[in-house]
Amino acid sequence: MSAEGHDHEHSHEHEHHHKDTFITKYIFSIDHKMIAKQYLITGIIMGVIGVVMSMLFRMQLAWPEESFKIFNVLLGDKWAPNGVMANDIYLALVTIHGTIMVFFVLTAGLSGTFSNLLIPLQIGARDMASGFLNMISYWLFFLSSVIMVSSLFVESGPANAGWTIYPPLSALPQAISGSGAGMTLWLVSMALFIAASLMGSLNYIVTVINLRTKGMSMTRLPLTIWAFFVTAIIGVISFPVLLSAALLLIFDRSFGTSFFLSDIYIAGEVLHYQGGSPVLFEHLFWFLGHPEVYIIILPALGITSEIIATNSRKPIFGYRAMIMSILAIAFLSTIVWGHHMFVSGMNPFLGSVFTFTTLLIAIPSAVKAFNYITTLWKGNLQLNPAMLFSIGLVSTFITGGLTGIILGDSTLDINVHDTYFVVAHFHLVMGISALYGMFAGIYHWFPKMFGRMLNKNLGYVHFWVTAVCAYGVFFPMHFID
Ligand code: CU
Repeated sequence: MSAEGHDHEHSHEHEHHHKDTFITKYIFSIDHKMIAKQYLITGIIMGVIGVVMSMLFRMQLAWPEESFKIFNVLLGDKWAPNGVMANDIYLALVTIHGTIMVFFVLTAGLSGTFSNLLIPLQIGARDMASGFLNMISYWLFFLSSVIMVSSLFVESGPANAGWTIYPPLSALPQAISGSGAGMTLWLVSMALFIAASLMGSLNYIVTVINLRTKGMSMTRLPLTIWAFFVTAIIGVISFPVLLSAALLLIFDRSFGTSFFLSDIYIAGEVLHYQGGSPVLFEHLFWFLGHPEVYIIILPALGITSEIIATNSRKPIFGYRAMIMSILAIAFLSTIVWGHHMFVSGMNPFLGSVFTFTTLLIAIPSAVKAFNYITTLWKGNLQLNPAMLFSIGLVSTFITGGLTGIILGDSTLDINVHDTYFVVAHFHLVMGISALYGMFAGIYHWFPKMFGRMLNKNLGYVHFWVTAVCAYGVFFPMHFID
C-alpha cells in the first residue's frame, strides 16, 4: 500500500466527521501528526541552511587568503568580491548559523516534531488540548523562519553580533553593518519564535496534565513524555526573559532608551546614553540561554530512553531515578546562568556560587548516563540505525559533558574563555547529541509518520559517516585556541 493510503487511514480515524480540503489537511492543519511533519520539514530545511553556512565560514577560516568561486556564487560581489569572504559576512554567517541551529533546528525542529507527534499518541489523547493554538504556533514559527532567512538578503547584511547578540553591537543600529536592518529582523524573528514556542509549550503542558487516558498516572508516563513535558515547563519559565530582553533592545535601538548602553562613543562622538549596562543584557540573555541547552537536550534524551529500552528488549533501568534526574536538571538549569559570565567582572564569590550549582548538574546527568548503560547491559541489542544514533548520543553526552566540568569551574573557565575549547564542548554535548537524538527519533518513528520504512543500509552509512565526522571535527577542536 502507498504511503498516501496510510495517511488517509490515519486521519480518517481522527476526523472522519469533517471534510478536509487540501488547505485544512496539509497547510493550516490542526492535526498533531500533520503539524509534527510540518515542524520536521521546516526544521530540516533550516538545518541544511545552517550547516551550509558553517561549511562556508570554515572554508574561509582554513584558507583565509584563498579565493573560492563558491563564495562569490553564493554571497555575491558585495560580500565575496573575487571569491574572498568579507569580514562582516563571515561574522554574519557565524551568527545566523548559531541562531538557526540552536533555535530553529534543535528547539523547534526537534521538540516541535516529536512533542506533537508523540504526546497525544503516548498518553492516549485524541489530539493536543488545542489544535487551533497548535496550528498558530507552527505558523508563527514558520513566519519567524522566513523572516530570519530573509534577513540574509537585506542591503546592510544580516545580524553579525554573534548568536548571543550582546549590546552595544545589537543596541546601536550604527555600530557595525549587521547592527542595522539585519539586527531588527533578527529581533522581530526571535520575538515571533518565542511567541510560537510559548504557545506550543503551553499546549504540551495542558495536554499532558489534562488529557491523559484513564489509569495513566504521572508515574506511568513514558520517559519521552516526561522529557517533553518538563522541557515545555522550562521554556515557559525562561523564554519570556529573552523576549523581554529583545523588547528592551528594540527600545534602546528605536526609542532612545538606555537599558543596555552607558557612556558610548562612536567615532569620537559622545552618544547621549547613560545609566544602562550591557551586563544586564547578559543576565537576561543567559537566563534563557542556559536553560535553552536543556530545552534542546532533554527531548533528545527522552527519545533515547525509549529507543534504547525498545532495542535492548528491556524496560529502561531506573525509571524513577530518570524522572528525578529530569526534574533536578530542570530546576538546576534555571540557577546556573552566571557560568556564561565569569569574565564579565562578576564578584568571585558569586562566581563560586555559580560554579557550585553548575557542577551539581553533573550528578543527575551522570545518573542518566549510567541508566542508559545499565539498560544496554546484558540486553538483547538490536543495533539498527535508531539504536546506533541513541548510543551515539550517550557517547557524545559523556565526552562533551566531561569538558563541561572544566568550563563550569570559574577558576578554570577564565583560562579557556573565548577559545575553541568552549565551541568544541557545546557542539558535542548539545549540538551533536541533540542532532543524534533527532536522527534517532526520525529513524524510529518514520514508519509511524510516513507509513514506510527507511533504508537500513543507508541508515548505517549515515550513522558511521556522521559519527566519524562529528568526532573528527570536534575532538581536535579542543586543542586549538
Ligand atoms: Cu550554560
